[in-house]
Amino acid sequence: PYPYYAQLRANEPVKWLDIMQGFAISRWDDVEAVLSDSKTFSSAQFWPALLGEYDPVPEVQPMISLDPPGHVRIRKLANKAFVPSRVGALSDRIRSVTHELIDDIFAKHGGEGEFDFVWEFSGLFPVSVIAEVLGVDIARRVDFKNWVDDLLAAGNRAAYGPERLAEIDKSSQAIRAYFEQVYDERSANPGDDLISGFIQAEVNGERLTRSEVLNMAILLLIGGVETTTNLLGITFAHLKTHPDIAAAIWADPTRIPALLEEMLRFDGPVQMLFRHTTCDTELAGIAVPKGSLVLPLLGSANHDERKFDRSEELVLDRNPKEIMSFGQGPHFCLGSYLSRMEAKSALEILTARFESIEAIGDTVKWSDSYFARGPKSLPVRFKAR
Ligand code: HEM
Repeated sequence: PYPYYAQLRANEPVKWLDIMQGFAISRWDDVEAVLSDSKTFSSAQFWPALLGEYDPVPEVQPMISLDPPGHVRIRKLANKAFVPSRVGALSDRIRSVTHELIDDIFAKHGGEGEFDFVWEFSGLFPVSVIAEVLGVDIARRVDFKNWVDDLLAAGNRAAYGPERLAEIDKSSQAIRAYFEQVYDERSANPGDDLISGFIQAEVNGERLTRSEVLNMAILLLIGGVETTTNLLGITFAHLKTHPDIAAAIWADPTRIPALLEEMLRFDGPVQMLFRHTTCDTELAGIAVPKGSLVLPLLGSANHDERKFDRSEELVLDRNPKEIMSFGQGPHFCLGSYLSRMEAKSALEILTARFESIEAIGDTVKWSDSYFARGPKSLPVRFKAR
């Protein structure tokens, strides 16, 4: 499905792309080499490049934009707050959020008809879950969603006029003000939510500062909303063209985890990452000068024929190992456990409550981002059980 990636892997595994002003890295081994070596391939430009002057917490960098050793300190504290037992304890809430969204769909559309899977389900589901994880007001989830959309849009800021930029600026200030208030409340009155966990986390006498907790909360919101929304949208977009796989899942929901792993490989929500070289270096025999932007193409690595047999096919029972979809090395996704749990739970409940959900229309409208992959909207026809 990705002929351009295949062509890059075959002929130009390290290719300068004018449009990105950087070098695209397309083979699995080279992507791994880049992500494992933060001395040569630094993450320090990640956040400034994404948010520019719209960073809500400019006084400190979030961990996604830090290299070791600074990264190690924050990641240890974050791991401490993000332990699987805390995340696992959310499974009941995740299930009830899913049921509530489906109840709303049935209330609005009846037992049979059409709805937009992205606008009415997958776009609301992860933001509701993360609001729950952070212990913030679920009634504000539409605000969160808008703030996150605006902050992600800051990545394209060069293309916008003053009105859109003013909106982005307003969202950036609103998100900071909101989390400052939550921080102050939780410091006085800790609960079992993740923000309280971040405030209290201690490793070797070290704690996170107020600004670090604020930008951690914002990073989780940015990292955890769009990605999981897209994983679900991508899944339903491809089930349409693979009706045999859809039938297999509906007949036997225990195959859902296998489907999700293969979907993450076949068409993951994060297609590329960003690194900058700190010195002159070489990849696949090609010189890459100091100060270059390097773009590890996770989506291409996941299709590398050197790593995966029949790599261009969606194979339900493949159970792929070593997928690149959550990155590699020190920045390996903090939310991989949570997002797998969310997506599994959503699919189990959808297959239980719907007799069918099928995307309609000949073409899917995909996001125009090179970085975040997912359908912008996905009209589906459904039948309730
Ligand atoms: C990092 C993908 C869901 C939080 C990453 C990275 C990738 C990724 C590729 C590596 C970034 C880098 O190396 O520069 C995904 C995908 C998801 C997902 C495909 C869903 C299917 C989530 C969720 C959360 C989350 C649900 C939080 C609730 C984070 C954080 C980092 C990260 C905090 C930075 C970790 C660090 O810098 O050490 N994610 N993510 N992600 N992700 Fe995710």
